[in-house]
Amino acid sequence: MKPYLFAAIGASFFATSLAVHAADVPAVLQSKCASCHALTKPESNSLDRLWERKGPDLHYAGNKFNKEWLVEWLQDPAKIRPAGEFYRKHVKPGTKEDVVDESSLAPHPKLARKDAEAAANALMTLTDPDGLIEKGAFKDQKVAMSMGAMYFNKLRGCAACHSAVPGKGGLSGPEMATAGKRLQPDFIYSYIKDPQKIDKGVWMPKLDISDADLQKLTSYIVQLSAKEDKK
Ligand code: HEC
Ligand code: HEC
Repeated sequence: MKPYLFAAIGASFFATSLAVHAADVPAVLQSKCASCHALTKPESNSLDRLWERKGPDLHYAGNKFNKEWLVEWLQDPAKIRPAGEFYRKHVKPGTKEDVVDESSLAPHPKLARKDAEAAANALMTLTDPDGLIEKGAFKDQKVAMSMGAMYFNKLRGCAACHSAVPGKGGLSGPEMATAGKRLQPDFIYSYIKDPQKIDKGVWMPKLDISDADLQKLTSYIVQLSAKEDKK
């Protein structure tokens, strides 16, 4: 490893550790996960932090994830972001359009079942004190899949960055085919409503979407993963 790179990693590790109030974070996460994930609200919320971070923020994990999904995924971590945490570092020009440079992406650490359960339990205790996620926002009214797909693909342009069907759609955002298993519906709703409130500086656009349309998009995403099961 080049010395300057090593120094940069060392420095950012130090900065992350300083921001974390160790007493509040379960030890299992502190020791194995804090080098890549923010486990408490970061003191600096600059764009640089977003560009440099090595993994998604987990300080509100208890209001974001479904626990059953965490236990399974931590043992067998399939890719969620096709081009990693920051896609611009992991795409290269292809013949027609940019393609993912797979060789630049490292696999996620894998945990044994017992450790995955401990980590999932610990993650569920990291809740969001700032009201980033609107509790009870999703009303669970089912949208027809064809209507949802029209909003997602055509009217709102979500497919430019997200794939609703594995292998199709954009590369710069998390895949949506299993998002209904991964994420709590109120988190999905809140993120679509105001992405920058949750992730300052993230390149997902804040659109002016009515509550009725937010319900449709959320319901569509929740139902996508039920569709995955039937395959
Ligand atoms: C070397 C850096 C690194 C370490 C160490 C690491 N992670 Fe990750 N983690 C990542 C990256 C990068 C992603 C994004 C993966 C993707 O999107 O495919 C990720 C994704 C996740 C996700 C899904 C987050 C989301 O918003 O989609 C969870 C949950 C998670 N990690 C938990 C953990 C836990 C628990 C530990 C410690 C046992 C850990 N990670 C250790 C880099 C790391
Ligand atoms: C310009 C690209 C872009 C567009 C367009 C876009 N998103 Fe995103 N989206 C992102 C990125 C980037 C993230 C967060 C990345 C991260 O957590 O690392 C994200 C996150 C999300 C999340 C949270 C997922 C998770 O695993 O944390 C949801 C839900 C979501 N987007 C839905 C939508 C919907 C619905 C639309 C259309 C209204 C949309 N997005 C349009 C780029 C985009």
